[in-house]
Amino acid sequence: MKTIDELLADGVGGQRVFVRADLNVPLESGAETVKISDDGRIRAVLPTVKALAEAGARVVVASHLGRPKGAPDPAFSLASAAARLGELLGADVAFATDTVGESARSTVAGLADGQVAVIENLRFNAGETSKDDAERGAFADRLAELADLYVGDGFGAVHRKHASVFDLPARLPHAAGYLIATEVAVLKKLTEDVKRPYVVALGGAKVSDKLAVIDQLLGKADRLLIGGGMAYTFLKAKGYEIGKSLLQEDQIPAVVEYIERAEKNGVELVLPVDTLVATGFPDLKTKAPADYENVDADKIPADKEGLDIGPESRELFASKITDAETVFWNGPMGVFEHPDYAGGTTALAQALLDSKGFTVVGGGDSAAAVRTLGFDESKFGHISTGGGASLEYLEGKTLPGLAALED
Ligand code: 3PG
Repeated sequence: MKTIDELLADGVGGQRVFVRADLNVPLESGAETVKISDDGRIRAVLPTVKALAEAGARVVVASHLGRPKGAPDPAFSLASAAARLGELLGADVAFATDTVGESARSTVAGLADGQVAVIENLRFNAGETSKDDAERGAFADRLAELADLYVGDGFGAVHRKHASVFDLPARLPHAAGYLIATEVAVLKKLTEDVKRPYVVALGGAKVSDKLAVIDQLLGKADRLLIGGGMAYTFLKAKGYEIGKSLLQEDQIPAVVEYIERAEKNGVELVLPVDTLVATGFPDLKTKAPADYENVDADKIPADKEGLDIGPESRELFASKITDAETVFWNGPMGVFEHPDYAGGTTALAQALLDSKGFTVVGGGDSAAAVRTLGFDESKFGHISTGGGASLEYLEGKTLPGLAALED
């Protein structure tokens, strides 16, 4: 994989460089304003954009945001992300209001050496995510007209076989940016010659999203801690009453098999022993205090649902992390967006901070949780910008956006 340093050494002055970033940041829309609630992904691409701009390149930054339906949709505009990128760079950043149309062409043509532009959400064009190779290829051809060189740095999207991620690098001389290089180096540490004990904590709502990675980890990790909404399917698989808690009934046979395989392989599978329950989901807008109680994990009342791991589980999970040499964590332990149910996720983040081992927070919600709960992100070994991408890497899958940069 060619690195951006090699590209810089070859000289990029005056060249148009297309940087495929992942600026898919959470937005909060107010009456007249749009607020970025976590700009971590924008900050993560700064080293690459700065290095190219300082070397005199004309930098064209592109990304997706959300999942618009292949046509322009103002709710998913990248305009706020472009403005934030400009603030962080301390420079004017031009913004094109389309992807490959008149605005994009004239914005890129208007760039001077060292200047930066952002083009509108790539997913406003159906070609970006199309399953049809020809449709994707046609969009990639048009994107290629905007640039002379390609730098892949949108780690969060490398598991997507999308035009800007997979097809475009085949059309331009290409290299991996600093973020992708760092993310891959960290994931290699977790897959090749990992330091033990290796502890993995998984949370989040759905077991089905994590099945493939659990399958892999049962042959690799020493301990697997399961929290969040997905834990209730595990508790149900053990025969416990879980009331109205989140359940993926169709996943129970797979989970039963995992519980048996963990025992056979000597992998310690740790489930919550207590849980905070309430009769309903909390109001995340008003954050009004919730009426909850803590119960043993095998005694969830029939009319209640579990919303966070309880205090004993927090201590138990932390005790399993203390002596770890390597820790990977993906997925919140509860509904951390509400203060009454943020305790489990906070305790887990704190356990990673207290650990002397190499700690990795895997993307998406867990990375946002670490930042919104006020933790100092520099204290973690690494905070990945890719939730799905890092999980698929750990599953051992070939990621289209990384494969495209190899050739
Ligand atoms: C993410 O948020 O995980 C990445 O930006 C990829 O987004 P996607 O799941 O919509 O492809």
